[in-house]
Amino acid sequence: TDYHEPQRGQFHFSARSGWMNDVNAPLYYRGTYHLFFQHNPHGLAWDTMHWGHATSTDLTHWTQKPIALEPGVHPGDLWSGAGVVDTANVTGLKSGDDDPIVVFTGTNGVSMAYSTDGAKTFTSFDNGRKLVTMPGTSRDPKVLWHEPTKRWVMVVWSDAGGNGVNIYTSTNLIDWTLRSRYAANWLFECPDLFQLPLDGNAADKRWVLTDASGEYVVGGFDGTAFSTTWTGPQVMDHGRNSADGTFYAGLVFADMPDNRVVQMAWQPGNKGGTWTGNASIPAQLGLRTLPAGIRVTRFPVAEVSALRTGTRTWTSRTVTADPATDPLAGVSADTYELEATFEVSTATATRFGFRLHTRPDGSYDRAVSYDRASQTLDGKPLPTVNGSIKLRLLVDRGQLEIFGNDGTFSWTDNVAFDSTPTSQGIRLFAENGSVRLTTLRLHQINSTWG
Ligand code: FRU
Repeated sequence: TDYHEPQRGQFHFSARSGWMNDVNAPLYYRGTYHLFFQHNPHGLAWDTMHWGHATSTDLTHWTQKPIALEPGVHPGDLWSGAGVVDTANVTGLKSGDDDPIVVFTGTNGVSMAYSTDGAKTFTSFDNGRKLVTMPGTSRDPKVLWHEPTKRWVMVVWSDAGGNGVNIYTSTNLIDWTLRSRYAANWLFECPDLFQLPLDGNAADKRWVLTDASGEYVVGGFDGTAFSTTWTGPQVMDHGRNSADGTFYAGLVFADMPDNRVVQMAWQPGNKGGTWTGNASIPAQLGLRTLPAGIRVTRFPVAEVSALRTGTRTWTSRTVTADPATDPLAGVSADTYELEATFEVSTATATRFGFRLHTRPDGSYDRAVSYDRASQTLDGKPLPTVNGSIKLRLLVDRGQLEIFGNDGTFSWTDNVAFDSTPTSQGIRLFAENGSVRLTTLRLHQINSTWG
């Protein structure tokens, strides 16, 4: 296939063909980002899970590689999991110049597979022996390095006695000791555990524990147990958070070359004739103190801005219900990005925003609208900052990602945009009054497929 059919993300990763679900073992190794994913190469529905594999040198241009883990070759259920680079060769598996890359997977117990050729091929460790077993249903190991205790940590979702995670530690990535369990009803599937500096202060890092829905709590982790004073989770993205939703099973990259925490997630639901499911844009996570409390922020990694191939800018416009005031009148695009700052404090319009993929008859595929009185974007809270709101929209063939106020608002969504040339209009609208647009930028984004 040529990756250009309707709904196929032009700057979102999807499998060349077949089904994809969760992102697995995102990691960086010697100049290359590796993305693995739950994959059925033989059909468009979930079945016979494989680990698909793709690589990128810039987080945005991905090249699919041969299957990494395959039933029949690699024993066990090849379900979701994570991986790390064993730079110190604690596994003793190193056999050439490459550091071992070890990945963990399995259901109701965790198996390991490893690569000694830079992720070109993987071998099941000890024939897929389960390194960790536990009662009840369990899956989705995530492994991280804990510097203060100099140990590897594994969090595994397990429903023994209710939802939660078991936390194990190891010094050699092979022998694991159960240290604690963090139980929480909300905590279902694909946990992740990582540190983020609060308000950019590297001296004040907090631990964040998330699940597949992007629900999270912020707290402390001493290398053995996670603790928090939060009584319930927040959600880091307003997408529909389920396996039949639009945002699910996000994981952050291991072994990043810089101190960024970068997450990719699965966008279920999008499909074409030959493929199902895609990955969300890589987002850099942060932690900020907002009026509502401490919150995780999500914002496209800087590399996404390098995809812009042309930019048009408008400044200081007052938009009303009169279509002649719309700076985007007559403008159209297929895949693109919009950045806008609206002055809400001086606005009289009750609602304003964008209509995406409009047609000459005025119909459109999706509106993104801000309600001035309630300070909500399509029903979700987006409070003004200094009287204004900032919006950043990534509009792909079947994918719409909405970021507000530099990532304090994130909404990963699917829209089956009609990409025929007569359905590519963009409109800026205001209802029952006016709104001042401080700046507006439209960036063309071309396909990232080779
Ligand atoms: C989440 C999930 C994981 C599981 C995988 C199987 O979408 O159900 O819990 O490991 O998908 O493909």
